This record gives sequence, C-alpha cells and structure tokens, in this order.
Amino acid sequence: MMNKTIGLFAGSLRKESYSKKLAKAIAEMAPEGFEFKLISLGNLPIYNQDFDDHGPVPEEYIKFRNEVKSLKGLIFITPEYNRSIPGVLKNAIDVGSRPKGESVWNGKPGAVFSSSPGNLSGFGANHHLRQSLVSLIVSVMQQPEVYLAKVHEVFDENGKINERTLGFLQKAVDAYIEWFKKIAG
Ligand SMILES: Cc1cc2nc3c(=O)[nH]c(=O)nc-3n(C[C@H](O)[C@H](O)[C@H](O)COP(=O)(O)O)c2cc1C
Repeated sequence: MMNKTIGLFAGSLRKESYSKKLAKAIAEMAPEGFEFKLISLGNLPIYNQDFDDHGPVPEEYIKFRNEVKSLKGLIFITPEYNRSIPGVLKNAIDVGSRPKGESVWNGKPGAVFSSSPGNLSGFGANHHLRQSLVSLIVSVMQQPEVYLAKVHEVFDENGKINERTLGFLQKAVDAYIEWFKKIAG
C-alpha cells in the first residue's frame, strides 16, 4: 500500500531557523506506512484575491495548492512573531484556503507544534494558528500540546537536537499518528 504523506510546514524563512531544524528532525520520524514531506512556503507571492478573481493565478499558487491537496495530514511547526504566527505561514494558509469553496486544507487532520527562544514557547502563535484552522475545518490534535521554550538550547554546536527533545518530539509525532489513524481511518 502507498505511504500516506504528511506535510511539515515550518513557519520561518531564516537560514538557521530553529523551526526548520525541528521540521527536518521530525521529517525523520515517520513510522511505517507514512512519509513526512517538508513543504516550502518561501516562494509564494503575498495573497491577492485579484489573482483568483481575475487571473492570472501565479504558478506558485497552483503548485502549492496541488501539493497540499495530495497530503493526508498536516504538521505545523511555528515560531511566534509578535504573539501570532509569522506572515509567511499565514500567507501559505491564505493561499491554500482560496478560491472560496476550494480550500485545500479542508478535512485534513493537523497538529501544531510551537517554539521560541524565550519562555513563552510560542503559545500565542500556537493558539492563533488553531483559531485559523478551526475555520478551515482542520481538526487539530488536542493533546499532547507541543510548546518548546528556550528552543535555542536544544541544539548542540553542530545543530544536532538533544536526546531529551528528540524523545519529546517523537512522542508527540507518535501521538499524532495514533490520533490520525483514529480520525482518518
Ligand atoms: C518580527 C519578530 C517578532 C517576534 N516576536 C516574538 C514573540 O512574540 N514571541 C517570542 O517568543 N519570540 C518572538 N520573536 C523571536 C523569535 O521567536 C525568534 O526569532 C525565533 O528564532 C524565530 O524562529 P526561527 O528560529 O524558526 O526563525 C520574534 C522575532 C521576530 C523576527
């Protein structure tokens, strides 16, 4: 049987982004029967409804929408910008949500993992994202909640994530997969 593909969406464009590093580590955690795929968000033009209403629709939108359509599930790995999610992630969500009635997010089971170098661990971003996902009919795993505080401290000088954090992330991924199987069959 074909692997089920789960998309990983890291909400940062920064070269040394902690979110991207977490996403790369999570990409290695897929169990048998699943494949985790890093989805790139950085080349999407800022959403403008005129593209959909009057055309031409940017190629990048078409490619992104088709890519998300082919996914069975979604894991968002977000930092926090000004107590919300970074614009690059919100833009991707908006692009995927339109044209009206053709959202590519609809019905896909999701999970939200957040982090920050401070103590707040991206709580504000995590819950703002959940708010958008409610309107997009993405059921989000309720527990375990994943908040990583002091995220810069989980990496060693080679960028490797410490065992404790890897174990924590693996447990969250395992819980997501179990929950995914229950609700997606
Ligand atoms: C525009 C901007 C706003 C930020 N706002 C917050 C914030 O509200 N809360 C927080 O914990 N960190 C905030 N930060 C710090 C980010 O958490 C930090 O830069 C983090 O490393 C970004 O994630 P990344 O490593 O994946 O790029 C902000 C950073 C930027 C650039």
